[in-house]
Amino acid sequence: MEKKSAKSFIQEIAKFCKEKGFVFPSCEIYGGFSGFYDYGPLGVELKKNIKDEWWNTFVRQRDDVVGIDACTITHAMVWKASGHVESFTDPLIECKKCHKRFRADHFIEDSLGISVDGITIEQINEIIEKHSLKCPYCKGELTSAKAFNLMFKTFVGAVEDESSIAYLRPETAQLMFTNFKLVMKASRLKLPFGIAQIGRAYRNEISPRDFLFRMREFEQMEIEYFVHPDKLNDCPYLNEELLNFELNVYSAEMQKKGEKHKKMKLKEALEKGIIKTAWHGYWLVLMYKWFVDLGVNPEKLRIRQHLPEELSHYALDTWDIEYEFPFGWKEIHGMANRTTYDLERHMKFSGKDLTYFDEETKKKIVPYVVAEPSQGVDRAFLVFIIDAYTKEKDRIVLKLHPRLAPYKVAVFPLVKRDGLDKKAKEIHEMLKKDFTSFYDEKGSIGRRYARQDEIGTPFCITIDYQTLEDDTVTIRDRDTKEQIRVKVSELKKILYELIYNGVKFEEIKKKL
Ligand code: ATP
Ligand code: GLY
Repeated sequence: MEKKSAKSFIQEIAKFCKEKGFVFPSCEIYGGFSGFYDYGPLGVELKKNIKDEWWNTFVRQRDDVVGIDACTITHAMVWKASGHVESFTDPLIECKKCHKRFRADHFIEDSLGISVDGITIEQINEIIEKHSLKCPYCKGELTSAKAFNLMFKTFVGAVEDESSIAYLRPETAQLMFTNFKLVMKASRLKLPFGIAQIGRAYRNEISPRDFLFRMREFEQMEIEYFVHPDKLNDCPYLNEELLNFELNVYSAEMQKKGEKHKKMKLKEALEKGIIKTAWHGYWLVLMYKWFVDLGVNPEKLRIRQHLPEELSHYALDTWDIEYEFPFGWKEIHGMANRTTYDLERHMKFSGKDLTYFDEETKKKIVPYVVAEPSQGVDRAFLVFIIDAYTKEKDRIVLKLHPRLAPYKVAVFPLVKRDGLDKKAKEIHEMLKKDFTSFYDEKGSIGRRYARQDEIGTPFCITIDYQTLEDDTVTIRDRDTKEQIRVKVSELKKILYELIYNGVKFEEIKKKL
């Protein structure tokens, strides 16, 4: 999509989200607050469903992953040890005249239309000079680029000095490392195992943009998966289904050669050494598949390997899952091989023993983070909304997966009299115990269907005169607009099949 239309599409999505009550600009009555967004009544439901799906799949359904919920204001030593105080930076430039500030790599990409992932400060300064780039607002001269630390700093307690500095965490990951030994002991875990967390993270992004894509306060869903350092390929969970799963793969080598991404089975990517360890491949497929299973178009997903110059200070090898947004292919999920870096650093800085006793060899080892699945909740939210947002001839329909939809059902009396409203309310009360249900008796039935289509409600239940005679209702399918008539006594069972068991509407229709 062309840059201008991509921008207007994102604006259209932001406007849609605001009007329908998914997402509001934070503090709007005071003119807004750049990079901060509040979730509204429908947004909070969708976001909760996304987090629940993730937690159920990767924590509750597994015996080898446990969760924590740690603090967001964190001891300064954590970030000294992790390397973030020194290295968690983006390149900053400023206009000498109007003092507007820009993230230098994005500024170059926007000005010259080139990709500069992993560019150094020196290279940035050379490009700016070579192309005589100026401030886009006032044509003023630009400063040289410098490293800007993205962490928000605060002071804890009544004294504001060096000793009371604390940081708002820029990733949930570190608290999984600082709690490593406590979690392992309390849960009596043996390698391989993972620690998971969903929670807020904060980054003082130089130029927040693209709606929920780049925020200053956001949420992450992360796992630190620890294995024995000598067993990076011993993944007992890799079965035929996962090995034969097809991914769009974009390795560092393909990028260097100027090639496009290629469709490839995980099996091939591992055999050819494109993905280096079985464990890394396993987690990449699981996370990619999570999006596909929740209805995201697989053609718009790919895994992209970081170029060596792009790697974070802690990473040996990183693959991002990217989605093709209207503004280009962008990271929605990062998955680094963090090696033993973090535990080693925390051992060094805290002086505490964070090793693991290997019963087999009777030796102490430092567990190895072979893959760190790191998913932004808000970026996932944006993907699900954009992927589902469909304009048809006569309507806008949000084709969210039923499991994610804020309301699973809406209940309408055909008209608001003759006892149809009373019966409809009874059915709404009955369904509410098992599904999020919305009751609506206002306006024409067509208008009521349209309102639910726009907010993604997959099924509408209508109570009509026939209901009073034979206790049947109609179920209308959001995507096809088709209807079936079912007994009230069977309604819950059928809805459960449709929403949670993945049974298709046509299959239910055929069986009736
Ligand atoms: P980018 O290159 O886009 O700045 P990143 O490499 O800094 O992203 P990571 O540090 O890998 O991102 O963070 C892991 C995940 O956290 C990202 O894939 C994304 O989903 C989420 N995330 C990171 N920064 C932001 C942000 N500013 N706003 C929203 N989500 C974010
Ligand atoms: N924990 C990885 C990241 O946030 O970048």
